[in-house]
Amino acid sequence: MNLDDVLAAINASSELSVGELAFLLGLNDPEDQRRLFEKAYEIKKRNVGAVVRLRGLVEFSNICEKNCLYCGIRRDNHGHRRYMLDEEEILEAAEWILEAGYGSMVLQSGERSDETFISLIESLLVKIKDLTSGKLGVTLSLGEQTPETYERWFNAGAHRYLLRIETSNPTLYRRIHPADHDFDRRRHCLDVLRDTGYQVGTGVMIGLPGQTLEDLAADALFFKNQDVDMIGMGPYIPHRDAPLAKETPDFDERGQLGLGLKMIAVVRLVLQDANIAATTALQALDPVGRERGLKAGANVMMPNVTSPKYRDAYQLYENKPNLDENAAACRDRLRESVAAVGETIRFEEWGDSPRFFRRLNSGRKGSTRATRSR
Ligand code: 5AD
Ligand code: SF4
Repeated sequence: MNLDDVLAAINASSELSVGELAFLLGLNDPEDQRRLFEKAYEIKKRNVGAVVRLRGLVEFSNICEKNCLYCGIRRDNHGHRRYMLDEEEILEAAEWILEAGYGSMVLQSGERSDETFISLIESLLVKIKDLTSGKLGVTLSLGEQTPETYERWFNAGAHRYLLRIETSNPTLYRRIHPADHDFDRRRHCLDVLRDTGYQVGTGVMIGLPGQTLEDLAADALFFKNQDVDMIGMGPYIPHRDAPLAKETPDFDERGQLGLGLKMIAVVRLVLQDANIAATTALQALDPVGRERGLKAGANVMMPNVTSPKYRDAYQLYENKPNLDENAAACRDRLRESVAAVGETIRFEEWGDSPRFFRRLNSGRKGSTRATRSR
């Protein structure tokens, strides 16, 4: 296999195989990598433009019932305090995001399934919609829930949901999760979310111990089969208090960043009109990691607007950036850093993916809230 042939297949709009995608993920030569990123960027520009969509990320609680083997806020990690923003603080964050012109917000927390939590989110959604006159798009990232819960939150005003599959390889999934996790249950949640009417996002961790390039290639095809609207994925970064860290004593930051960028490019080749996020895990490995993500094919950024006083307690992985930066400074820096790579932020819009609108127009299942989208 050689790069010219694979690029020619892309130009001819042929569907790439697992072998071809894995070949691209394995490119080591800087010039080869540059050609891959260039192709992905060209496809991005053609399908979603050289524009960046923003989601203000509010990590409102680090309380979690789960114990994922890779995660710094897993249940058994007693090394940091647990927090939960109160309703007023979350509403303040929503208002700030609206005023900053970000257009949409993501509410993310550890996983909880008790009724107190479920109804709290429900009433918060109604209040956020009310407070922002329905102008702010709201994405939830609150893990696995029952169909009834997904429906209650949808009816209360959420229209997008992010649930990472983490890996589409069931054997690897089992190795990085405790026994009470179940791959099929998680995948089923993605179907339920779609059936409920959400725009669905998923993603994986890139460079997990034991993960092969073929696994990542299969992940890209999994996203396509699930027909998802958005992808949020980032490099795996060991956390010293999480058991999986033992398996990567010689963690290679540069290699991990490179693989993360190549994966963005490969997913852009496969899902040409989806929203793909340049996540903060990229930034943890390189101060301009997210901007490099944009050049590799990503088109969404999720600036963290959680109050700095809570951020140090929300460390999924070590080295999370921006822990002492306030939200306003963060926004100005974003505008500049995005302009520096030749892109423009589209403020004041929900920023749904062209993929979502195409699916809607073709009569397949999708959010009935599209008409309210902007
Ligand atoms: N490295 C990278 N990403 C991680 N996540 C959790 N722990 C880590 C880690 N150590 C990601 C998971 C989860 C999301 C909220 O954070 O993919 O879905
Ligand atoms: Fe909880 Fe999510 Fe971390 Fe798993 S990855 S322990 S569900 S916060």
